Amino acid sequence: MKPRIYVTRRLPARVQAQLSESFAVRLHDSLEPPPREQLLAECAGVDGLLTTLSDRVDAELLDAAGEAVRIVANYAVGYDNIDIPACNRRSIIACNTPGVLTDATAELTITLAAALSRRVVEGDRFIRRGLPWIWAPTFMLGRSLIGLTIGIVGLGRIGRRVAEIATAMGMKVVFSVRTGAQSGESMQRWEHRSLADLLAESDIVSLHCPLTGETRHLIDARSLQVMRRDAVLINTARGPIVDEDALVEALRGGVIAGAALDVFEDEPAVHPALLDLENVVLVPHLGSATTAAREAMGSLCVSALRTVLIDGGTPANAISP
Ligand code: GLV
Ligand code: GLV
Repeated sequence: MKPRIYVTRRLPARVQAQLSESFAVRLHDSLEPPPREQLLAECAGVDGLLTTLSDRVDAELLDAAGEAVRIVANYAVGYDNIDIPACNRRSIIACNTPGVLTDATAELTITLAAALSRRVVEGDRFIRRGLPWIWAPTFMLGRSLIGLTIGIVGLGRIGRRVAEIATAMGMKVVFSVRTGAQSGESMQRWEHRSLADLLAESDIVSLHCPLTGETRHLIDARSLQVMRRDAVLINTARGPIVDEDALVEALRGGVIAGAALDVFEDEPAVHPALLDLENVVLVPHLGSATTAAREAMGSLCVSALRTVLIDGGTPANAISP
């Protein structure tokens, strides 16, 4: 008999086909996550779960799923939605999708930085309003990325890729990390700063750290005050790393010059004040949203599920306790 898995969201067709080859799949076939009660009811009795970042995987869910569960494959690189100790206590392996979305997310980060600095989205909104315009020497001027300093908060896979692209584009890269050891290689290529120094120096501050107890509201009113008045903030990591109320105040008050956000504190809700600000670019959590990345994320989940439920092994992308 095929192992039973519960999949909390419709996945790319190719991924669903791979899953059905090996597993008896119970699918929440929707673009939206199952409401909590439904999730708790539908996951009961399976051997494995395939979850997304919208599902809170905690003790309650694991208990509802039952004693057969041996793996939670999270269809995301971030796993702040998963209570890892609760998985460990039940000897359930949790895994994520590192690596395969690094390029896609780094590319979106740079895209947002460029869109904001060159006022692409503002220009688009302007044209769509049907207002009269003609080329003019002083009309809608922005800033070129070349020569700017980008401050990368969190130099993991994605942060490093952003640093490489930014370097290739002629930007200066500085970075801060919360955990001790940095490879000599990144130290040689880019300049390390304390977070405070990075905030004070950067034209673009870009967040690439995971959401943890330590990084929640890492960017708050005080850190925004430290930033330059002509600086912008880019967030393609997790919404709650930024205190959205404080960000709105900083943008309104000219404390910083702009922001581009792919993620939101209370996702999918967006702070209403952000909608009224011209110097803000908003996209709906598209960091990994390329066909190639989403299929590769699916394949990583499929092979992790197979490794655990069919081969009895431990996948390489298991999250270590
Ligand atoms: C998306 O945000 C992810 O963590 O993969
Ligand atoms: C995620 O892949 C990261 O380490 O930045």
